[in-house]
Amino acid sequence: MAENGIIIAIDGHSGCGKSTTAKAVAKVLGYTYIDTGAMYRAVTLYFMRDNVSVENAKAVAQALAEIRIDFKTDTVAQTRMTYLNGENVENEIRQMEVSQHVSEVSALPVVRQTMVAQQRQMARQGSVVMDGRDIGTYVFPDAALKVFMTARPAVRAQRRMAELTAKGEHVDLAAIRQNLETRDQIDSTRQKNPLKKAEDAIEIDTSDLTFGQQVKQVLSLVQKLTD
Ligand code: DC
Repeated sequence: MAENGIIIAIDGHSGCGKSTTAKAVAKVLGYTYIDTGAMYRAVTLYFMRDNVSVENAKAVAQALAEIRIDFKTDTVAQTRMTYLNGENVENEIRQMEVSQHVSEVSALPVVRQTMVAQQRQMARQGSVVMDGRDIGTYVFPDAALKVFMTARPAVRAQRRMAELTAKGEHVDLAAIRQNLETRDQIDSTRQKNPLKKAEDAIEIDTSDLTFGQQVKQVLSLVQKLTD
């Protein structure tokens, strides 16, 4: 599957710092960062805007055929932006409303099938750090390194709140925690490719780690691959 490069898979619960860590690790290594959660969020946004019901198989299939997701680096902000059919939706997909529907949408087998095919395609270009829920278990079971991140729910809710507040969105801490826990529950119990630690994944609990320590731990695991 991974024809041309090294794959680092970072899976784990919602809000434990996977994306920020994966992004920083990719930057240090010069690998491409692929945020698979952003892909499911973009699909969810499309469904919300077009009133696509998850119960309407035909409408879901039609919508999926019309959705194109790309990642482009914004040279000014120095960060990867998510594009849905050519529109930068990076901010919109992080909003609470999308978070409230994304697990339901991403549990649909046809949605997963479509996204996984794109994720495998994206990794053909070279080495990648990919974060999500099923990367080490399903998308790239042969990844060179699999990390499973976790953190205590209270810590995760605090971090997510800080992120949203920084973006000007004001959401109640209890509502954030509820959303994270509901998503974990749906993501871990869905039938197709549930969130699960791969047997050969290395677990990192980030509850008491600083961001710098998280990144360092993953980089030292990468280093061990070549030692
Ligand atoms: O990583 P995130 O919190 O932005 O992901 C949003 C949702 O997308 C998550 O609650 C479940 C879904 N997801 C998934 O099902 N599989 C992935 N590989 C990544 C995300």
